[in-house]
Amino acid sequence: MERPWKHVLLCALILSSTASSNARFAYWSLLPNPTVTSYLSVAPASNSIACVRECMKHSQCDSCAYYRESGTCYLQVETSTTSDGTGNSVEVFKATSPCHVPKMYIAPNTNHVDWKNNGWEMEGNLNCGNDYMYIGDSPTYHCSALGEWTEKQWQCRQKVWRNPEINHRFSVPKTPGPGWAVCMIGTPTHSTRFNLNLAKDKNNVVLHVDVRLHHRSATATIVMASMVDNDWGIEMNKHYTPTPFPVAVNRSFHMAVKTLNLSDVQLFVDGVFIGNFTPLFSLDQVTEVSVSADVDARMLDLWCDQ
Ligand SMILES: *[C@@H]1O[C@H](CO)[C@@H](O)[C@H](O)[C@H]1NC(C)=O
Ligand SMILES: *[C@@H]1O[C@H](CO)[C@@H](O)[C@H](O)[C@H]1NC(C)=O
Repeated sequence: MERPWKHVLLCALILSSTASSNARFAYWSLLPNPTVTSYLSVAPASNSIACVRECMKHSQCDSCAYYRESGTCYLQVETSTTSDGTGNSVEVFKATSPCHVPKMYIAPNTNHVDWKNNGWEMEGNLNCGNDYMYIGDSPTYHCSALGEWTEKQWQCRQKVWRNPEINHRFSVPKTPGPGWAVCMIGTPTHSTRFNLNLAKDKNNVVLHVDVRLHHRSATATIVMASMVDNDWGIEMNKHYTPTPFPVAVNRSFHMAVKTLNLSDVQLFVDGVFIGNFTPLFSLDQVTEVSVSADVDARMLDLWCDQ
C-alpha cells in the first residue's frame, strides 16, 4: 500500500561518523512536491536514509532527492520548484530547523519522555511515573518540519496509592470500562471486618465488599452489596463463605475486583475466585474508591492489570 507520504513530515536523527564523539542532530522533512532541476552530484544509494547521509557529507548539500526505482540520489544546493513528473517514485528531503526537547512536557515524579530514533523519525514517548497513568491521545510526539513538537492534550493521573489512608475517597483516574479492575493489598488488624468500596458518591456505593471475619456471626463471610441513596439494597446482597476462609488477622492478602462488562464484577482473593455480583449501578458510574474499618492497607491500585 502506498503511504500518504505527501503529508508526512519526518525528522531524522543521524549520528555523525566524524572524529567528534558528539551526536550530530539533523532534522529533515519529506517535501510535499518532489522536484529536481539542478544538482551538485549524483550518487547511488540503497535507500533514502543512505541518500540523506550522502548529502550530509557535503557542506553545500541542502536537500536531496531519492529515486526509488533507479536507486539514485541527487544532492542539491537548494530545492528547486519544477516538478520532475515522476510522481511518487522520488522522495525529496530538506534539512529543517531542529526540535528541542520540550521541557514543558517533563514534570518531576510524574512522567518522562523517552527519545527514540527510528532511522527517519525522531519520536518522544511520554511515560507517566510508576503509580500514574497517562490520560490522553497517543503519548507519542513527532517533530514537524517547522521544528515544533505536535501539540497534545494529556495528563498523568495517580492510580496507585501506597499505604492509603483509611476512609479516604480516592478518585478513579478515568471512566471505567469493561475489563477495569481494582486491586488492594492489606492485612486485617482485628478479627472484625473491613471494606472496599467502589462508589459513585458518598451516598451511592456501586460495590461494597464487606469482609466479616467473625463479625456478628460465627461464620466468616464476604458480602457484596450496593447502596442507593444511602440505603442498602438488602435483597440484593450476596454472601459468600469460602472455605478455608481466605482472609485472616495479621496475614497479608491481595484482593481484586474485576469487571467483565459494565454490569458484572468478579471478586478474587489471592488469585482465588470468591464470587460475582451485579451492582445496582453500571460500573462506569464509579468515580471513587475507599477502604474502611479494621485493615492495614498497603496498596490500592485503581487501574490494575488483571
Ligand atoms: C496480630 O498482631 C498483633 C501485633 O503483633 C498481636 O498483638 C495480635 O495478638 C495478633 N493477632 C493474632 C490473631 O494473631
Ligand atoms: C456480563 O458478563 C456476565 C458474565 O460473563 C454475563 O453473565 C452477563 O450476561 C454480561 N452482561 C451483559 C450486559 O453483557
